[in-house]
Amino acid sequence: MILAIESSCDDTSVALIDSQGFVCALSSRNQDVKHSPFGGIVPEVASRQHTEVLMPLLNQVLNESNTELKNLTGIAVTARPGLIGSLLVGVVAAKTLSLALEIPLVGVNHIEGHLLAPLLKDETHQPTVGFGFPYMALAVSGGHTHLFEVLGVGRYRLIGHTVDDAAGEAFDKFAKLLGLGFPGGHLIDKFSNGGDTQKYAFPRAKMEADDLDFSFSGLKSSAARLLNGWSQEKIDSERRDLCASFQEAIVEVLIEKMLRAHKKLKLKNWTVTGGVSANSRLRARVFEVAEELNLTISLPPLRYCTDNAAMIGLAGLYRLDSGNLGPQPVTASSRAMPEDWVKA
Ligand code: KG4
Ligand code: ZN
Repeated sequence: MILAIESSCDDTSVALIDSQGFVCALSSRNQDVKHSPFGGIVPEVASRQHTEVLMPLLNQVLNESNTELKNLTGIAVTARPGLIGSLLVGVVAAKTLSLALEIPLVGVNHIEGHLLAPLLKDETHQPTVGFGFPYMALAVSGGHTHLFEVLGVGRYRLIGHTVDDAAGEAFDKFAKLLGLGFPGGHLIDKFSNGGDTQKYAFPRAKMEADDLDFSFSGLKSSAARLLNGWSQEKIDSERRDLCASFQEAIVEVLIEKMLRAHKKLKLKNWTVTGGVSANSRLRARVFEVAEELNLTISLPPLRYCTDNAAMIGLAGLYRLDSGNLGPQPVTASSRAMPEDWVKA
């Protein structure tokens, strides 16, 4: 039984994974209410919250699965990338437990966790039948927008990434401009329902042929220019069309880049993970494209899409199984290691 801990940003999460990669227990707590008064994540607040919540979550997963600390055979912890203060809480807790219980510890790259999330299984969820390596993975959240060719465990070819803001960050910034609070991605999604996707012309960046990278920072500037001088009443009355048009600009680019990658690499299996994969328009478009191109799609349920320890446990399990524990000792780093993957 592997214990997994995730604390890289503003979600604290603990999971127990058995030797077959089956999620026996998962408990996650987000900190949205703590950060929303500040309109964004405050690193100091995030670290403090992790210290308060981590041990209760650990007790919860042990109790839920009738597991005792002495039954644990290994520990996986998110070591990079993320907010350094947040990462340190998880890494120090994991190191302490590993020393006390005399069991191996492995540091996991958070993005690797997102890439493997479509393979997670539990009592109520199985990966899509026929889905497996190699696959195309879009990891898209408030912190990252990365497109990968996933060839196997530990074999991740980065084929595109954002050169500035993440897609979730763009959703959140736009929600703030509309006065919807933080984080606002899910509200943009909600208000887009029934709105006119073409009413406002938001830019689609990096659309030159062959470019698989993303850029979303121009979207916010364009929205700020558009809304300059608008009253809150006017914003509210146009909210539906504004949200639908903005959402369409992001979803269109995400889908277009996956289509381009598909043309090049002919990957029949696709997954989308990270918080933005909850977006209903993105999900609908992925399934439309899948139908046209006869693809197999595995979109993890929300508990495995947003930041969670189960995906870290699965990545850790493969490492522990193979004996390849990566660079030792495990250290927290705000950045990914160069050896984590190769850019195509
Ligand atoms: O993966 P996640 O929980 O945390 C990280 O950022 O790593 O993702 C959170 C992000 C936020 O930017 C949030 O606004 C966005 O995912 N998000 C959405 C939706 N639900 C969450 N964006 C668009 N549509 C949604 N339905
Ligand atoms: Zn994430």
